[in-house]
Amino acid sequence: MGKPNQRRPELEAAVGLSSNEALLEVRDLEVTYHSPGQLPTRAVEGISFQIRRGESLAIVGESGSGKSTLALAVLRLLPPYSTIVRGTVCFDGQDITLASESALQKIRGAKIGMVFQQPGMSLNPLMRVSRQVAEVIRAHYTWPWSQCQAKAMLLLERVFGSESGRLSQAYPHQLSGGQRQRVSIAQALACGPQLIIADEPTASLDGVVEAGILQIFHELRANGNVSLLFITHNPAILPDLADRVLVLRSGAVVEKGILQDVFRRPREQYTADLLYSLPIA
Ligand SMILES: Nc1ncnc2c1ncn2[C@@H]1O[C@H](COP(=O)(O)OP(=O)(O)O)[C@@H](O)[C@H]1O
Ligand SMILES: [Mg+2]
Repeated sequence: MGKPNQRRPELEAAVGLSSNEALLEVRDLEVTYHSPGQLPTRAVEGISFQIRRGESLAIVGESGSGKSTLALAVLRLLPPYSTIVRGTVCFDGQDITLASESALQKIRGAKIGMVFQQPGMSLNPLMRVSRQVAEVIRAHYTWPWSQCQAKAMLLLERVFGSESGRLSQAYPHQLSGGQRQRVSIAQALACGPQLIIADEPTASLDGVVEAGILQIFHELRANGNVSLLFITHNPAILPDLADRVLVLRSGAVVEKGILQDVFRRPREQYTADLLYSLPIA
């Protein structure tokens, strides 16, 4: 695997963010699932947080603490048998909980890029990956196809480095999990999003491959013009990746603050247990 290329300003020019105002503001959000034949599950219980432009926020918590539900609520991708019971999700001045489907389509994949846990969940098995990245661009821009393809190649160069020529012509099944996750990141970056939501993007990858993917997120953060909502159950990967952290337990925030402060002096035993990887009762 080649190292990711150096930054390419032309890839990152889409967002010129410098102000400190909140890009995403979640207020008092509550989400309940009503799965058929089961008692309702309150997965998110009154969560509030903000992400400023260019800022990186980490969300940590044990499995089942509501991290993915929160991410899906921000994108309004929750399943039909769920309800946003109360609260607001304001992205760039627009309340996502009230937005029309067509307004949401202009936000998802364009203003907010997404990277999920399963590498390649967003990929079509029947299409070469270069075309799949170009299709994301075509969905949001009126550019000629050749321009979409050229931009896709630049993005793939960024995530694959010197191997991009060969790997971009592959079908998803010809790539490893880490390589597929790199394609997902290229898709998430394709339209120059203001925010990237990454939900445990390295949880299914082994150490060396994980380090390569995290390196791309480090570069994004260092670049500072895209905000990041980085979700993980493993706080060990977070130093250098986030400015602030929100610790979730059972759908609620138990602790939040500057990442280094929380990591150095966790106030809650639950946070300390997560940090030191002790079993959590
Ligand atoms: N699609 C779903 N249907 C029903 N319950 C769900 C669904 N997704 C998550 N839950 C429940 O919501 C709670 C939070 O889950 P989730 O948001 O996936 O947590 P995490 O991402 O932190 O592991 C859990 O109790 C989980 O069982
Ligand atoms: Mg999850």
